[in-house]
Amino acid sequence: MSHLSLVKTSVKAPARILAANWKMNLTAAKAVALAGEIIKRAAKTSLSEIWIAAPFTSLPALSDVCRAAPIALGAQNVFWEDRGAFTGEISVEMLKEHSCSFVIVGHSERRNLFHERPGEAAQRALFALNSGLSVIFCVGETINEKMSGKTGSVVRRQLRPLLSELSNLPENLVIAYEPVWAIGTGVVAKEDDINTAHSEIGSVFAKKFAGASPPILYGGSVTPDNFEAILALPGVNGGLIGGASLIAEKFNALIDIAERI
Ligand code: PGA
Repeated sequence: MSHLSLVKTSVKAPARILAANWKMNLTAAKAVALAGEIIKRAAKTSLSEIWIAAPFTSLPALSDVCRAAPIALGAQNVFWEDRGAFTGEISVEMLKEHSCSFVIVGHSERRNLFHERPGEAAQRALFALNSGLSVIFCVGETINEKMSGKTGSVVRRQLRPLLSELSNLPENLVIAYEPVWAIGTGVVAKEDDINTAHSEIGSVFAKKFAGASPPILYGGSVTPDNFEAILALPGVNGGLIGGASLIAEKFNALIDIAERI
């Protein structure tokens, strides 16, 4: 697995990406302890890349721990300006100062709880991509949208502002398909649903970029019990994992699966 000096993510190289989304959990000391357990397992991987998106307050401590480890450290959001009067936001430079090489953008919790619009998610993603960070750009439909058969049109709408600004497919872009109704609910999407959504996303990119598409992760109630079947699906390049990434045994069991199949 080849790691660049700062950008320790190598989106194209690994067979699969396991990205932990720690959300608003863990104090710095607890984050360091959990990262330590994960690093022990990550040191013995050959097929998978392990990414951890931590809360901002844990990044300085994790930066020391992760710098020499086979782990990419990242954040859960980023703003589209270098600096200025943007209360509550964080810049690429601030994240890079603490060894971040990637960022999650457009998570459904940002879109739905904090009303980030598709255009804003695209602006954040484009700025981060152009600044050399890898981006996990999240898309996914609500239960009502799913029930009314709108999954395809929803993910296309969420991708459109990003796609319209891209003239080439960035090597540091990853998409995560996360059905809102599967996040943190224990209800995992059915294989058919995942296949359909991933191929929809893939074909939107393929149409624009001569057949090329970014890696696509699945997210939503991933556990060691369901991950093997999900990862075996042809359009799935890894997982974005919330709840199960907060427990070392569970997350390491997911790594075991990714290394085995
Ligand atoms: P979950 O969260 O694994 O707890 O469902 C996934 C996510 O929100 O990224």
